[in-house]
Amino acid sequence: MSQVNPYLPIEATVEKVIDETASIKTFVFRPKQPIAFQTGQFMLVTIAGIGESAFTPSSSPSVKDTMEFTIMKVGVNTEKIHALKPGDTVGLRGPYGKGYPVEKYFNHEVLIVGGGVGLAPLRSLLLTLIEQIEKFKKITLCYGSKTPDDVVYKYLFPKWKEIKGLEIVRSVDKCPENVKWDETVGLVTCLLDKVNADRDNAAVIVCGPPIMMKFATLKIYQQGYNPENTYLSMERNMSCGLGKCGHCGVGPHYCCKDGPVFTYEQLKDEPEIWD
Ligand SMILES: Cc1cc2nc3c(=O)[nH]c(=O)nc-3n(C[C@H](O)[C@H](O)[C@H](O)COP(=O)(O)OP(=O)(O)OC[C@H]3O[C@@H](n4cnc5c(N)ncnc54)[C@H](O)[C@@H]3O)c2cc1C
Ligand code: FES
Repeated sequence: MSQVNPYLPIEATVEKVIDETASIKTFVFRPKQPIAFQTGQFMLVTIAGIGESAFTPSSSPSVKDTMEFTIMKVGVNTEKIHALKPGDTVGLRGPYGKGYPVEKYFNHEVLIVGGGVGLAPLRSLLLTLIEQIEKFKKITLCYGSKTPDDVVYKYLFPKWKEIKGLEIVRSVDKCPENVKWDETVGLVTCLLDKVNADRDNAAVIVCGPPIMMKFATLKIYQQGYNPENTYLSMERNMSCGLGKCGHCGVGPHYCCKDGPVFTYEQLKDEPEIWD
């Protein structure tokens, strides 16, 4: 942990705000001191006088001076965060939890399955993998969103599609008639039928809204991928972030301390993991 007192936030200035969709923005924060993290770990973002919420950085840990978060407006804190302008400040505390064990994926195929704003933590992971792409047999990204307007990082996909060793397939649940979309229309799970990954050895990484996580993970399991190589980024309401308050249970585990990244093997026999 990069902070002496884990409860004490580090002040960070908003450097840039990028509109991604009607309800999602990416914030570039510049902390007063660099905060080291592993891809997949999360931070608590504090808005003075309002409260704090958990978010996973969407930038690569190799970028030291700034930290990016892609945030969907869903309630009180995220509404305040969406009102932030360049020059405003927030507090950042963390990082917390366990991230993706990237070294375990070396010499394997990596299949990433994301839905909606779930691409935020996955972007951090994808950027980390791209930085050392020669270490992986192949990387495949399956990304689903509700409509073409709801796709995040629209400006990054053209560059990503040119990267050798990275295959990208995308779907939207539905496409209005007047909107151009040349890719798949259907739920993200249908993309799993289109990709040809090594089911015995691929590392499979899933992140998205709970309903998408549930059906994507069950399909991955049915298709014969190994639950020990399947990594889920779980979301629970967080408070302390340190495994002390008991707010964030996932079966016998605490999401903040033992996760947020778990293997499906760790969770598959627990009831109510998708609630
Ligand atoms: C480890 C982790 C990483 C996350 N990363 C991101 C991210 O990168 N981008 C992003 O947009 N969001 C992320 N979230 C979710 C984010 O923390 C919540 O959306 C946020 O706390 C909502 O705060 P609010 O005050 O705006 O909403 P509230 O007013 O508190 O609640 C609005 C609705 O959201 C639900 N909710 C609130 N907090 C959570 C939560 N933590 N998990 C699930 N549902 C919640 C509430 O039950 C309610 O239905 C992450 C959550 C966790 C636990
Ligand atoms: S947030 Fe307090 S135990 Fe996890």
